[in-house]
Amino acid sequence: MKLETEFLGVKFENPFILGAAPSTDELDILRRGFEAGWAGAVLKTTSVPGTRVDIAYPMLASMREADSKLSLGNIDLISVYHVDEVARRIEILRKEFPEKVLIASIMGASRKEWQSLVKILEEAGADMIECSFSCPQGNIGEEPGRMLAQSAQATELVTSWVVSARKKIPVLIKITPQVTDIVEIAMAVKRGGADGITASNTIPALMGIDIWSLVPNPPVDGKSAYSGLSGPAIKPITLRVIAEIARYTGMPIAGTGGAMNWRDAVEFMLVGAHIVQFVTAVMFHGFRIIDDLKSGLLYYMDRMGFESPKDIVGKSLEHIVWSYDELPLKKVKSRIDLEKCIGCGDCYISCRDGGHMAIEFGDDRKPRVIDEKCVGCALCKEVCPVPGCIRMETID
Ligand SMILES: Cc1cc2nc3c(=O)[nH]c(=O)nc-3n(C[C@H](O)[C@H](O)[C@H](O)COP(=O)(O)O)c2cc1C
Ligand code: SF4
Ligand code: SF4
Repeated sequence: MKLETEFLGVKFENPFILGAAPSTDELDILRRGFEAGWAGAVLKTTSVPGTRVDIAYPMLASMREADSKLSLGNIDLISVYHVDEVARRIEILRKEFPEKVLIASIMGASRKEWQSLVKILEEAGADMIECSFSCPQGNIGEEPGRMLAQSAQATELVTSWVVSARKKIPVLIKITPQVTDIVEIAMAVKRGGADGITASNTIPALMGIDIWSLVPNPPVDGKSAYSGLSGPAIKPITLRVIAEIARYTGMPIAGTGGAMNWRDAVEFMLVGAHIVQFVTAVMFHGFRIIDDLKSGLLYYMDRMGFESPKDIVGKSLEHIVWSYDELPLKKVKSRIDLEKCIGCGDCYISCRDGGHMAIEFGDDRKPRVIDEKCVGCALCKEVCPVPGCIRMETID
C-alpha cells in the first residue's frame, strides 16, 4: 500500500497539492509547503509583463454569521508577479525540490499572451500548465466578472491555443461551476485538446452585508464586490461537478473546491478526482494538515483494501443515478434509539413544524415515532445532535 500516484503521466508522492492562492505566491512560503510534505503546488496564476493587477484590500471575508467561519470569500486577483518572476521561481524550485510537482497557472488576454506564457513556463521547468478560465473577478480581456469557461466556444478556442503552444507537458483547464451545463464546458475542453480538467474553482457570491453600515463584506472604503466563495460551503457543488465531468466525459480531473480534510479528499476521489488541491484548509490550519491528510488516506486505504489512491478514483459513480425517477420507491420509517436519546426534543419540534407531526414527545422527554404518520423524510435524523441515535429503516 502506498500513497504515490500518477496523474497525466506525472508522478505525485501523494495525491495532495497546494492550489493556486496566496500560499503559492511567495518562494519562501512554497518552500515551507514542500518541506511539510505536500506533493506539489499550483503557483498562483501569472500573466504577461505589463498586465495590471490592482488588488483592493481587505480582500477576504468569512461566513462567520452563517456558522461556517471556514468558508471564505475573496476579491483577490491573479498574482502581482508576472511570468518572468514566476519562471525564475520555477527554475529555483525545480533544482531544490526535484521530486515535487510544479504546476504553473496562467491567464492571458490574447492568443499571443496565452501562448507565450506556456512557452516560457514549460522552458523554465513546469511539470504542467493550469489555465485559469474561471476567476470570479473575470478573465483579463473579458467584461468584468465574465469567465472564459462560461462560454463553450471560448473555452474550446483558448484551450486549443494553449495546447498547440506546449511542447510536451500536460495542460489542465480550470473551469467554473457557475454555468448551466458543466458537461458542455467539459466537452469543449476535451475538443480543445487539453489533457485534464481542474474542477472547479470558487463560486461568485456576496459574502454578507453589515446591516448597520449597509456595506457588503469585505468592506473596501465603503464598497465591496462579488467574492469567490471557497471552503466547506462549496464542497457539495464541487462533488457534483466532478461527478458529472467524470461520468460524461471521462476526462482526468484535479479536484478543488471545499476539501478541508482527508475524508473530503476521498469523497472527491470517489467521484472521479485523481489528485486534490487544498487552499482554504491551508489558509485556516496551515501546511501541517498534510500529515493528517496522508495518515488519514493510508488508514482509509487499509480499511477498504485499496492498494493505491488510483483504486479509489470513481468508485462511487455507479451509486449515483442521474434522475430521481431511477430511485427505488420503498417505505422508510424513522427509528429512535432511546438508550442514546438525551431528550432534547429537537426531532419532535422539527417533525411537528417542518415535517409530518409524526413524533410524540411526552412528559418523560422521550420521543416516539408514529409509524402511520412518518413518511421517512429523515429530517429528525438530520437535526438530532446525538450521532447514531436516529436511523432510517427501509420496510419492504
Ligand atoms: C485568496 C485566494 C486566492 C486565489 N487565487 C487564485 C488564483 O490566483 N488562481 C486560481 O486559479 N485560483 C485561485 N484561487 C482559487 C483556489 O485555487 C481554489 O480553487 C479555491 O479556493 C477552492 O478551493 P478551496 O475550497 O480548497 O479553497 C484563490 C483562492 C483564494 C481563497
Ligand atoms: S422521518 Fe420525517 S416524518 Fe418521520 S419522524 Fe422523522 S421527521 Fe417525522
Ligand atoms: S433529537 Fe435525538 S436526542 Fe433529541 S430527543 Fe430526538 S432522538 Fe432524542
